[in-house]
Amino acid sequence: MKDVNVAVIGASGWMGKVHTMAFLTFPHFFGDAGGVARVVALVDRNPQAAEGLLRKVPGAQVFQDWRQAVNHPEVDLVDICLPDDLHYEVAKAALLAGKHVFCEKPLANTAAEARELADIAREKRLITRVGHAFPRNPIHDRAKEIIDAGEIGEIKMFKGCQHIDVFGDPAAPFMWRADGTLAPTGIVGDTGTHVFSFMEFLVGRVSSLVADNFVATPRRPIFAGLGIGEGAELTGDEAMAEVTNPDGTNLLCRFENGARGIVDFSRVATGRKFRQTYEVYGTKGSIAYDWDEVNRLRFYTNDDRAGRRGFREIDVGPENPNYRAFLPLPNFSLGYNEMKIIEIAEVVRSVATNTPMWPTFETGHHICQIVDACMESSRLGRWVDIPSV
Ligand SMILES: NC(=O)c1ccc[n+]([C@@H]2O[C@H](COP(=O)([O-])OP(=O)(O)OC[C@H]3O[C@@H](n4cnc5c(N)ncnc54)[C@H](O)[C@@H]3O)[C@@H](O)[C@H]2O)c1
Repeated sequence: MKDVNVAVIGASGWMGKVHTMAFLTFPHFFGDAGGVARVVALVDRNPQAAEGLLRKVPGAQVFQDWRQAVNHPEVDLVDICLPDDLHYEVAKAALLAGKHVFCEKPLANTAAEARELADIAREKRLITRVGHAFPRNPIHDRAKEIIDAGEIGEIKMFKGCQHIDVFGDPAAPFMWRADGTLAPTGIVGDTGTHVFSFMEFLVGRVSSLVADNFVATPRRPIFAGLGIGEGAELTGDEAMAEVTNPDGTNLLCRFENGARGIVDFSRVATGRKFRQTYEVYGTKGSIAYDWDEVNRLRFYTNDDRAGRRGFREIDVGPENPNYRAFLPLPNFSLGYNEMKIIEIAEVVRSVATNTPMWPTFETGHHICQIVDACMESSRLGRWVDIPSV
């Protein structure tokens, strides 16, 4: 058994809190996962955060500059929970310093950067992982089993979406997510990558696409210090900031295996607090998923006899080890934070046992290729091919 010493960077933000919680909590459910994680360093540039961070993880070192953690001799694994534009720079520095890296999505600003990161990791034989946690919901293991066993036949069509409404109201405050410098690909890197991770997990690689990105509200009021989903009373005197990345995207795609896809995602779907769905149609059957029934899959098969055909509901239960780790009975519901605990347990197991697990930086690169293609296609107004390397 090996201790995995972790530095969480961006530790006082949403993901920083969730990841830190998961490193501290996973042994309660998963035992030692091949190794024990010790959070030895917490980094956030927010000076007010230090005291709170220390209270959460007594004994950890707290830094404001990520370089101190990345170059710290005790650190084995660097966990990047920073705004998107910093992922590449920090991940590259960490890999070059010989650290294993877990990076929130999107892996990088461009596919070229993601390729470079994956290459450095391969050359240095380091473990990598990107924070595409949604497919690690145990119900999607069931979906993958059904597809891989050929139970829905040859896949012909994928439909997927993910919507939130944090920017639905034009008065919703500006934040880094709407800033094309800090989040160069906007909703495509932010939310599109989640749908793309399902496509990669369940169907395979995308070979070409045509995308239409849009900005719904071109200028937003500035309120300092508000996080995602937080609002404030408008006085009318607020300074305004330009939204410089997409609010939403509609796209058509073709997969390497010949299947076709239709996908949409946005942050402006008023009333949709969190909508995530997919449908996969094959020659013998189909599967459908909706986050509103988070542990349930719908499965249709032509093998059922005529007159008895219809979608059946399948709930994931304790036969799946990641589900069983939390709950002894089906349909008691695993939520978002449990998925992050499953993910972090896998990250620690990967590092402790030197075993890469999906989604590595190679997957992150494939997904960044789709993001690049969305940005290019929307700019050019035409279909764009995605290289297969
Ligand atoms: N996998 C998921 O489901 C999921 C969900 C939300 C966010 N994310 C990703 O996680 C990342 C972080 O998002 P978030 O919602 O936690 O953001 P956030 O704004 O809540 O947190 C970011 C944190 O980074 C800190 N920070 C910013 N610049 C820094 C720097 N130079 N040095 C040190 N600290 C710095 C901020 O002070 C803040 O505490 C993003 O890339 C986002 O896409 C993933």
